[in-house]
Amino acid sequence: MSKHFDSKREAVSLINKAFLKDNISVPFEKKYNELEKKYKFLSERTKKLENVYRFHKGIVQNISSGIVTIDFSGNITFINHAALKAIEYSYDDLINQPVNQLFADLYEAEDILKDLLKNKNMFESREVNLVTKTNKIIPIGFSTSILQSNDSKFEGVILLFRDLTNLINFRRQMERMERLATLGEVSAGIAHEIRNPLAGIKTSAQVLEESFSPNDFRAQLVSRIVKEIDRSNELLKKFFKFAKPSRPQQEFVDIEKIIEGVHLLLVSRMKKKKIKFKSEYMPELPKVFVDESQLEQVIVNLMLNAMDSIDSSGEINVKTNLTEMSSVSDKSNEKEMVLVQIMDTGKGIKDEIIEKIFNPFFTTKNEGIGMGLAISSRLVEENGGRLEVKSEIKKGANFLLYLPI
Ligand SMILES: Nc1ncnc2c1ncn2[C@@H]1O[C@H](COP(=O)(O)OP(=O)(O)O)[C@@H](O)[C@H]1O
Ligand SMILES: [Mg+2]
Repeated sequence: MSKHFDSKREAVSLINKAFLKDNISVPFEKKYNELEKKYKFLSERTKKLENVYRFHKGIVQNISSGIVTIDFSGNITFINHAALKAIEYSYDDLINQPVNQLFADLYEAEDILKDLLKNKNMFESREVNLVTKTNKIIPIGFSTSILQSNDSKFEGVILLFRDLTNLINFRRQMERMERLATLGEVSAGIAHEIRNPLAGIKTSAQVLEESFSPNDFRAQLVSRIVKEIDRSNELLKKFFKFAKPSRPQQEFVDIEKIIEGVHLLLVSRMKKKKIKFKSEYMPELPKVFVDESQLEQVIVNLMLNAMDSIDSSGEINVKTNLTEMSSVSDKSNEKEMVLVQIMDTGKGIKDEIIEKIFNPFFTTKNEGIGMGLAISSRLVEENGGRLEVKSEIKKGANFLLYLPI
């Protein structure tokens, strides 16, 4: 019923003409009314169906899980926004294309598809890696169900998946913290036991030192012993700070002030190394809720590392922002946090060691102790924040410090 009539009379006369030609006699007026009723009924139905369609489409497209449907030969027949966003493809890139190209491991993909399409074994939850258009690997968890047509014929499979990147990062972080905590407890005990004999050795050495004349080479040897003991004590002290950080005295502080304070502390050293310091503070940033002196210590550590990473001249950029931080994998449970980024143009961190840099005593420097990041990440956690790192070799490192507000 696409044609619209100007008036009912016009319509009736049209129908009259049409039927008269075939010599059929119908009560046209009645016929017209019937048709009009049907038209109204149908257009209402269509509207309702459109609403139902829009409603379902809305659900499928706005849900945060990825949805992909495939036919019985493994080609993609539908893919929703969340899925496209996760794997960075467009709809046209993928529609009617084989789904296996999305899996990081082709053999694994083959096994999965055989299970699904041939044996019709569905998965409740399975973890697998996908590869995005830009060749990034993303871990996902997925479940599947059979896609049936109205007459119950097997038409393919629905895959429902979630990006597990956040969850896996969180898991890793938890493992790291657990490892550090255990290590902290065990070694704090040992360190404590070492401190007492060290004190004894030091006193004896000092007595011995006094018994030689200052020019005696033995006096110099003994003085060396005392110095080395002091160094060991320093190490132990640092270690204690890590193993048993004092409880944070959290208050609302201005992060910009802290950064500027640390900058002032380091500015002459930066100048010596021809390092430019740039800052980009977000205006009207809310105060962060942290222990001021602990946070200062963290920023000093991060800045010192940034300075160490730069051989001759370079740049350190500090940027503050307000950001949403999702807890674990639950994106709906996002918290606002302040993000401080400390970026340098130094040598960057190799992929092989990036997992280790937060471990106590991990260092790549001749004079390094390897406690800076271990202590910093511990302190940040204690203050309810998070410390993460991104790095590209030769482009420098980017430390991301998330702080509660
Ligand atoms: N900004 C940075 N750029 C490059 N490498 C870094 C950076 N920050 C930390 N690292 C790496 O992490 C290691 C551990 O750092 P840290 O715990 O502070 O100990 P240390 O500075 O004593 O080596 C460093 O030895 C270095 O290899
Ligand atoms: Mg350091």
